[in-house]
Amino acid sequence: MGGSAEKMTDAPAKEVDLASEAFEREFERFARFIRNDSSAVTLGLSDAEQELRALQDLRTRHLGKKSAIAGAKKLIGRVAAEDRAAFGQLVQKTEAAMAESIETAEESLNAIIKSARTAREAIDVTIPGRRPRQGHLHPITLMRQRIEDIFVSLGYAVEDDREIETDFYNFDALNIPEGHPAREPQDTFYTTEGFALRSQTSTVQIHAMQRRGAPVRMIAPGRVFRRDTPDPTHNPMFYQVEGLCVDRGITMAHLKGTLAEFVHRLFGPETKTRFRPSYFPFTEPSAEVDYSCFNCGGDGCRICKWSGWIELGGSGMVHPNVLRAANVDPEEFTGFAFGLGIDRTCARIYQLDDIRLLFENDVRFLSQFR
Ligand code: FA5
Repeated sequence: MGGSAEKMTDAPAKEVDLASEAFEREFERFARFIRNDSSAVTLGLSDAEQELRALQDLRTRHLGKKSAIAGAKKLIGRVAAEDRAAFGQLVQKTEAAMAESIETAEESLNAIIKSARTAREAIDVTIPGRRPRQGHLHPITLMRQRIEDIFVSLGYAVEDDREIETDFYNFDALNIPEGHPAREPQDTFYTTEGFALRSQTSTVQIHAMQRRGAPVRMIAPGRVFRRDTPDPTHNPMFYQVEGLCVDRGITMAHLKGTLAEFVHRLFGPETKTRFRPSYFPFTEPSAEVDYSCFNCGGDGCRICKWSGWIELGGSGMVHPNVLRAANVDPEEFTGFAFGLGIDRTCARIYQLDDIRLLFENDVRFLSQFR
């Protein structure tokens, strides 16, 4: 308190002036909101919100506890008594002027934000709606359902079983013991715990007989896995549908009649079947099944590769060892089984040159099959 009262009065007043000038300089950019310039009124919502935040920061800086004007207020008690009232008034007037400017700009900004929000939320009921994109079933699923419908109407149950198998179900129970050459073409993917991805749906024959006993009539559509190199007719993962019918007195005639009926229902009553002798360890006798081409009726065309016939899959009479492995007495029961490739049948029906297309997940391709 070494200076004179005169000096004390001048210096604080100067501080108020400086605070006011600093405020004016910074407030300049917000003045447009008081004038309601066109640049202010047309401000976008997020810009306006940003300006409002900046204005609030400005209020803290210039009117807050640590502001210059707050500092000046503390000096009121320290100016000479005769100047105190005038100085006090100056401080209050300056502070009120700042607060009013901020408030006016703030009101205007709030109004701009409110109308921008209203505009954003306005619904134009005349705009045409966006049609929701509807999914649809995969062609393999469509094919599987067609096959299931036919066999269900013939009195077959649909079994769904595991894709990860033990060697017992994948090979041993199907009459393919360790070291048997038939393990080779069906080599599959193994886990470290002695499990393998099933290489054919024939595994379900065993599960179904163990679960249901005999007689049994079931189909088992599902995914199988083989160490096949992908090409137009091979994938390392593909779908098969297994069929099994075990009862007293079942013969090869039942097998032929059932598959003939199946292709009639799938491709039309004029479709013929052909059985070629073959070998599968789990059936005896075994046969490959072909059907006459649904496109040319057997004359030969691009779809049947000019042979008139298309391969359906493998089939045969269930081997007695397989019945035994599933605790069914081969002296009392006989049965037939078949395994059809769904992917290749699907590719034929939809005239695809390459089954790999089915799993490329290209929506432009898949959306053609509804
Ligand atoms: C079997 O898998 C036997 N389990 C079928 C069977 C069942 C015979 C019951 C007797 C009794 P095969 O390996 O031939 O047979 O395969 C049957 C069908 O699966 C083939 O006709 C073919 O359509 C399909 N297929 C085989 N390998 C592939 C592959 N890599 N990609 C796509 N489809 C395949």
